Amino acid sequence: MAEQRDKWATKLGLILAMAGNAIGLGNFWRFPYQLASNGGGAFMIPYFFALFFLGIPVMWIEWTIGRYGGKYGHGTLGPMFYLMSRESLKPKSALWFGVLGGLLGFSVSSLLSSYYYQIIGWSAAYTWYSLTGAYFGQDTYKFFVGYISNTSAVLFFWALTMVLLGIAVGQGVSKGIERWVKVMMPALYVFAIILVIRALTLGSPVKPEWSAIGGLSYIWTPNFSALSKNFFKIALAAAGQIFFTLSLGMGIIHNYASYLGPEDDVALSGLATVSLNEFAEVILGGSLAIPIAFAYLGPEKAIKGGVGLAYMALPNVFMHMPAGRIFGAFWFLLLWFAGFTSAIATYNYLVAMLEEDIHIDRKKGTWMVFVWLFILGLPIALDKTLLVLTDMDMWVGSYFLVLLGFFDIVVGLWLFKPDNFWEELHKGAFINVPSWFKPIMLYIAPIYMLILLAGNTWNYAKGGVFTLSPAYMQDLVKNQALVSTTIGYAKHAVTVARGMIFIVIIIGAIEAYMAIKKKYKEELEKNEVIIKL
Ligand code: TRP
Repeated sequence: MAEQRDKWATKLGLILAMAGNAIGLGNFWRFPYQLASNGGGAFMIPYFFALFFLGIPVMWIEWTIGRYGGKYGHGTLGPMFYLMSRESLKPKSALWFGVLGGLLGFSVSSLLSSYYYQIIGWSAAYTWYSLTGAYFGQDTYKFFVGYISNTSAVLFFWALTMVLLGIAVGQGVSKGIERWVKVMMPALYVFAIILVIRALTLGSPVKPEWSAIGGLSYIWTPNFSALSKNFFKIALAAAGQIFFTLSLGMGIIHNYASYLGPEDDVALSGLATVSLNEFAEVILGGSLAIPIAFAYLGPEKAIKGGVGLAYMALPNVFMHMPAGRIFGAFWFLLLWFAGFTSAIATYNYLVAMLEEDIHIDRKKGTWMVFVWLFILGLPIALDKTLLVLTDMDMWVGSYFLVLLGFFDIVVGLWLFKPDNFWEELHKGAFINVPSWFKPIMLYIAPIYMLILLAGNTWNYAKGGVFTLSPAYMQDLVKNQALVSTTIGYAKHAVTVARGMIFIVIIIGAIEAYMAIKKKYKEELEKNEVIIKL
């Protein structure tokens, strides 16, 4: 246990890093389109509900698990889950929870990065295209399709982003990540606030009945009737967004928390992370894409903007706005910064794994992870239809996160034992978590997650996602593909996505199994807990 682990140098640095982790494309790109396609004011009701009953409790749980693992020198989920499960189980059985945690953490970090880093790359490209006015006066949909089909441009901006990520992560936690976020996070808030002021002072530039304020009232007028009509669909989407935006169920909150000292506060810091993220999401994120689109494109197009809202609808706005090149560049740079400071976290997770489990030094590990993520990203970068990305996101983005979150509770609370957990959460805490949060964490949150998992499974089964039913393939080709394509191609894309998922899960399971076996060899052989801090 003598090895020196890196630690956050300052409290401010830690909070900014965690905020940077949580605040990402989820806040400025995903949130607006989820909101728009789920009825605006109808979406916000289950959203706040999920924030309270899932977001806040799971955030505390992940901080607590992470700090506990860090005490033993671990920043990844495999060993963390193993160590905590030992409180109720014999080491040999605890090992299987470790394997499960390890495979989920590794899969989510690898697969989420494979497509999320692409989208960050798009933002880099669009920052450049805004400054040069490349899309001005053009059909922005065609421009986007043109960009995605331009393999060398896609590869260039993606690789550029990855190299910078590699440099930041390679420098380490306190000397790299912490220093980068201390510059990027304040800048991100400044960009966002400038843009919000611009958005809310747009007035009605196109038609008197189209205004940014109209966009705000679409979001902020609770719409119970729309909610009741599509209750299950909207509630699922809202809870999924809470997971995604808070970086829950990914292993990366655990990983960042592992660089705390064993007595550093997690209760108030966890809550601060949630608050900073929610401010950036509902206040800043909510006041940008939708209001801007309402003012320039009108409510109908704004609501229909979907996934393309940020990259296809808004460029239309910038080209007609005074000083549009500058504001366009600000918008895409905002997306890039937000994405970058989130992406650092999954990158670091994978580097930590190599560093701690196989003792590869950080510099070398960083470039190994670079190669790994490049291989995984390539099929997505080369796919002009974006169908590989779409299918991958259906599994990773909405399924794995919730599954991982569910096992956070099984391991961190039930197996670790609720009283131990409560004590651990309050070690060095700056605030007391009200005791009625205990039943929320123990029962309400996991039941909520089981309902989400069942709901998603049901929807996928009904839609023929598992069996690749002809209806599902038709839907992919007609509604989900960016460019027109064939059923044959769609089948191929889905096979690639699922093949990747399968391979990554297997590697993750083997890695976790071997790492835990090696490190805790003696106690696994004796099947008795020996190492206890
Ligand atoms: N919370 C992040 C967001 O809102 C999600 C995220 C964080 C993420 N780090 C990531 C996604 C790394 C993919 C890869 O965007």
